Amino acid sequence: MEIIEVSHFKKSFGNKVVHRDVNFTVKQGECLGLLGGSGAGKSVILRSMIGLERPDNGQIQIEGIDVTNLDEAKLVDIRKRVAYVFQNGALFDSMTIFDNIAYPLREHTKLKEHEIREQVLSTLQMFNMHGTENMLPAELSGGMQKRVGLARAIILKPDIILYDEPTAGLDPANTVKIQNLIVQLKGTGVTSILVTHDMDTALRVCDRLAFLENGSVENLGMVSDLKQDPVQILQLFIRGQSD
Ligand SMILES: Nc1ncnc2c1ncn2[C@@H]1O[C@H](COP(=O)(O)OP(=O)(O)OP(=O)(O)O)[C@@H](O)[C@H]1O
Ligand SMILES: [Mg+2]
Repeated sequence: MEIIEVSHFKKSFGNKVVHRDVNFTVKQGECLGLLGGSGAGKSVILRSMIGLERPDNGQIQIEGIDVTNLDEAKLVDIRKRVAYVFQNGALFDSMTIFDNIAYPLREHTKLKEHEIREQVLSTLQMFNMHGTENMLPAELSGGMQKRVGLARAIILKPDIILYDEPTAGLDPANTVKIQNLIVQLKGTGVTSILVTHDMDTALRVCDRLAFLENGSVENLGMVSDLKQDPVQILQLFIRGQSD
């Protein structure tokens, strides 16, 4: 079943046409890797999925609902089910790690404080970050901050996770940690889109790849098939680096 369906998505900024006609779908439980050069419009598509941006034309159906025309109240509901993992983590600087991760629970649920505590601490455990709960974001490394951003994004147990360059700027060890977390989350049945320049991560965690270029999306096929074709992988790697 298709859980995300983007059809005839068009978006310009001023007279600059970024998306001419974008079409793609994502199936329940699938992880789609969305590749593309810098400025191709990947982040704008992700942001549009939770109503932070609106297309000039076209539709984005999420679990059967077109999100492109929803009012703010209905978007709040969508944002509970669709998590967006921002590239920079977007943590609240003056809040502890605990409060950062607890924030969505306090905002969107009626859980009691001891229940919130239980969930936050078990999520920190899952992310191998127990002991950091009383620290401030600035006291953590970039890799750890990214993991906290991911923890906060999944605390409401979303059906869909949108990852915007989750491994950008990370060293190999932290990259592997994030890859493992994404694979682990996929194992729980979530549907996801992973925007990345990092072919290694795309091949490691995605089921299928697509390429955004010149305002439209080309379906590249299943990762399991692509892995048999090193030449194509190399070509994709080069294409994805272009500006
Ligand atoms: N709010 C905005 N106002 C004007 N132009 C914008 C706005 N948001 C995005 N753009 C333009 O749209 C294009 C696509 O932006 P987007 O951020 O989606 O690219 P991207 O594919 O995510 O690139 P990167 O890989 O560098 O993150 C860029 O040329 C950008 O300058
Ligand atoms: Mg981007």
